[in-house]
Amino acid sequence: MTSLSHSVPSAAAPSGSVSSPAKRIQIDFAERSYDILIGESLLSDPASYEGLKGHSALMVSNTTVSPLYAARLKTALGTRHAQLFEVVLPDGEAFKTWETLNLIFDALLANGCDRKTVIYALGGGVVGDMAGFAAASYMRGVPFVQLPTTLLAQVDSSVGGKTAINHPLGKNMIGAFYQPQRVLCDLSLLKSLPARELSAGLAEVIKYGPIFDTAFLAWLNHHIDDLRVFEPAALSHAVQRSCEIKAEVVGQDEREAGLRAILNFGHTFGHAIEAGLGFGEWLHGEAVGCGMVMAATLSQRLGFVSAQWVADLRALIQRAGLPVIAPILDPHDNAGRYLALMRHDKKSEAGDIKFVLIQKPGTAVVQSAPEALVREVIDACCQA
Ligand code: NAD
Ligand code: GLY
Repeated sequence: MTSLSHSVPSAAAPSGSVSSPAKRIQIDFAERSYDILIGESLLSDPASYEGLKGHSALMVSNTTVSPLYAARLKTALGTRHAQLFEVVLPDGEAFKTWETLNLIFDALLANGCDRKTVIYALGGGVVGDMAGFAAASYMRGVPFVQLPTTLLAQVDSSVGGKTAINHPLGKNMIGAFYQPQRVLCDLSLLKSLPARELSAGLAEVIKYGPIFDTAFLAWLNHHIDDLRVFEPAALSHAVQRSCEIKAEVVGQDEREAGLRAILNFGHTFGHAIEAGLGFGEWLHGEAVGCGMVMAATLSQRLGFVSAQWVADLRALIQRAGLPVIAPILDPHDNAGRYLALMRHDKKSEAGDIKFVLIQKPGTAVVQSAPEALVREVIDACCQA
């Protein structure tokens, strides 16, 4: 069992309006350190790209985001790169595949891109994870910049250098740790996000509370309705606090030797839901939201947290617009199907499934659990 503790000062809660200067959070990897900038209109501001060099650059986006925002990026980059190319990927988790990844390599090679070509990942977590993996492997590594356009990508996937594609047998199974040069979280881009996608992002925001910061969890309980209506000051605080926590955790444990695994709270069950239903059926954040209910329930059955604490967390997840009843993955052997899928989880060791559990509110542990108890939890959460 790995017991994980931490301490990061909490940022002051917002006083009412979004301050216009960008907030800067540094993520510390010695010579590979980089900034996460959070603010309004960062995408359109040429100053956001200062210091980025390269004769050529490739914008990677998708069929939804490119028409909305690629022109702004292009204008802001101006003449920074002598050649600017774009590849537009099909949209959706179901396209987070080798075939789609190859479209990025095709564009890089067809346009004669070199080792200094800068890749700009403009999109949600799917685009960011694929563009990042392409950047990690093209010519054994080229610089890349994350321009996350979903809440989920701003609070989680763009930060910390995990890149990957899916395999039909498992989520994010093929990938690399590879850090970007910079992350630009432009809050104004969230305005065009569908409500369902905003809720999916809230799952990854909420997770930071139980695993790390009970004061943030209390703040979320007060502000979840503000977040659901895109209230700017609330969104700004949620993105900032999430990025601070993620930067702290990942700065201590880049390659998930220990502490970083706590960021997978809800993901062991959640990844099973995604793979079991077929990628794209439930959004990643929806599966994580429901997965957190399951992991919290398992924590309670192990005697770590109270039933009331789990009920409160479940209510918050529900208020965020997320599903809290787990889907049936196999009518004949539902728990068996969950267990089989969870054995593919990257935290599993020799088939022993490791769960991120809440030892006490604000502190997570990573450990296995008796199979009979896990089966009980699956049954309970699929019917609740
Ligand atoms: P997504 O990338 O599929 O984006 C969600 C949808 O919103 C897509 O249809 C997209 O085109 C659209 N969209 C994006 N920005 C928009 C905008 N501003 N306005 C309107 N529509 C917009 O999904 P996601 O939730 O951003 O990311 C989920 C992915 O992130 C999963 O594949 C997950 O595995 C991955 N992830 C990775 C990490 C990591 O550490 N690398 C962490 C968490 C999640
Ligand atoms: N999203 C989990 C991690 O970055 O480690």
